Amino acid sequence: MIIAIDGPAASGKSTTAKGVSHILGIPYLDTGAMYRAITHIVLTKKFNIDDPLELKTLLNGIQIRFEIIKDENCIFINNKNVSSLIRSSDVTSNVSAVSAIPEIRESMVGLQRKIGRENGCVIEGRDIGTVVFPNADFKFFLVADVKVRAERRLLDLEKIGETKSLNELMNEIEKRDLLDSSRDHSPLIKAKDAIEINTGLLTINEQIEQIVKHITNIQNNKGN
Ligand code: DC
Repeated sequence: MIIAIDGPAASGKSTTAKGVSHILGIPYLDTGAMYRAITHIVLTKKFNIDDPLELKTLLNGIQIRFEIIKDENCIFINNKNVSSLIRSSDVTSNVSAVSAIPEIRESMVGLQRKIGRENGCVIEGRDIGTVVFPNADFKFFLVADVKVRAERRLLDLEKIGETKSLNELMNEIEKRDLLDSSRDHSPLIKAKDAIEINTGLLTINEQIEQIVKHITNIQNNKGN
């Protein structure tokens, strides 16, 4: 079963997708983490992604895999655990530009489809219901007010020892939303058949419950 959860930055996708995956016993895939991991490599190894040859070298030289360590879904690039590094502000401010490159998207989408098809998954991102799995069994699109989203990001940053003002974060989120939704290649857009959920009005448990209830209701009806 493929459950697609899309939405803008900090709309609650990860927490919700993890919860749904836990309750339904289906693997979880964070596609944003993949674009962040590539961005981390681009920044640390100083790849010029506008140069087709360097882009090719980058994509041929990286191997991305996920591994669950102490209940945490960790991402590895070439066997290095980059799970914390990809959450830095530097990566966050550059990831929209990196993820807009068609060759990078093609490579990531191929890997996402391969991982998703192996055992099914709850997969979160920006283009899952539209491009990666347009025939997903279930599609959800999470939204929330930008202030609510900035407050969530503030808490995330505190966990990795970074501080920023709420205004700064609101500006960053709006900028990223604009870049992600206005790019030419598979922009952030709600699939026509996705169910929209405003997570600003719900607790985490309520968000998870709404999705799980919807899925189980449909499955029960199919069984009758
Ligand atoms: O969900 P996130 O904030 O970790 O995602 C980081 C960036 O990756 C986001 O700004 C856009 C990009 N992304 C994407 O283009 N397509 C996806 N399926 C997931 C993320």
